Amino acid sequence: MGQFDKKVVIITGAGASGEGMGNGKAAAIHYARQGAHTVALDIDEVALADTAQIIESEGNSVTSLLCDVSDNNSVADTIAEVHCRLGHIDVLHNNVGLLELDGPVSLTEEVWDKVMETNVKGMFLTCKYVLPIMEAQGKGAIVNISSVAAIRYWGTPAIAYDTSKAAILQFTRSIALEYARKGIRANVILPGVMDTPLINEPLKADHSPAEIETIREERHQMIPIGRMGDPFELAKAAAFLASDDASYITGSELVVDGGLVSTCIPNW
Ligand SMILES: NC(=O)c1ccc[n+]([C@@H]2O[C@H](COP(=O)([O-])OP(=O)(O)OC[C@H]3O[C@@H](n4cnc5c(N)ncnc54)[C@H](O)[C@@H]3O)[C@@H](O)[C@H]2O)c1
Repeated sequence: MGQFDKKVVIITGAGASGEGMGNGKAAAIHYARQGAHTVALDIDEVALADTAQIIESEGNSVTSLLCDVSDNNSVADTIAEVHCRLGHIDVLHNNVGLLELDGPVSLTEEVWDKVMETNVKGMFLTCKYVLPIMEAQGKGAIVNISSVAAIRYWGTPAIAYDTSKAAILQFTRSIALEYARKGIRANVILPGVMDTPLINEPLKADHSPAEIETIREERHQMIPIGRMGDPFELAKAAAFLASDDASYITGSELVVDGGLVSTCIPNW
């Protein structure tokens, strides 16, 4: 018996943006291992197929659907299809997040809009269509993935990303409070430096394999517990917040960062 037996869990961005394990991919695999019927959403067909193949090869169940979370029609159609096919939606895990580096002067308006549409509007749209279903059920749990970049400057200009991640904190609180008496909980996770393609892939453009190893080692060393996070460590924290074990937790912010934001080291 798993913690999520008979539960339908939607994960957005359930693929990964490169080789290796991403946060959304790990979350999809982990919920499925805990008995959930996982609904994996992504815009990347190949990445989605890879996640589904892993879940199915472990004997677990998954429905994979192409969905662009920044597109109203795409989200509306996808959520309606999930509800029609599976009958209920128990957990919404909003993982999609686009990282673009640049400060306020050099960042283009187009990139600002793209980051906001993906990271903030994407969560708005999934909640817009999932919340009425959860309200009718009288229960549901939402986990939104923000970042420690929502509450700290991390030494690299990423004004749109940082701002979008901060918006997710209040977005989650507002949902948690509005729906607190309706059986729906909403919480947000602030991951620190997770060892995923999201932060590893950009290195390949400008660095040799040896340089990449040096940078990765520096990243490990700046974390108080001595290493970057494994995406499954984030998945397990999310699954706790999504589970009935967290029945009295709503509107909360869980930092999952190996102690990073508790340090006083500048420019990490
Ligand atoms: N890795 C880190 O160090 C770190 C730290 C803090 C927070 N996070 C957060 O973790 C989340 C993502 O982690 P990840 O490892 O899964 O990233 P990832 O880039 O590996 O995967 C993101 C997935 O989202 C998909 N995607 C992108 N735009 C989409 C859209 N419009 N609609 C649907 N799918 C879309 C991509 O195709 C990809 O498969 C983000 O919210 C990110 O901000 C990561």
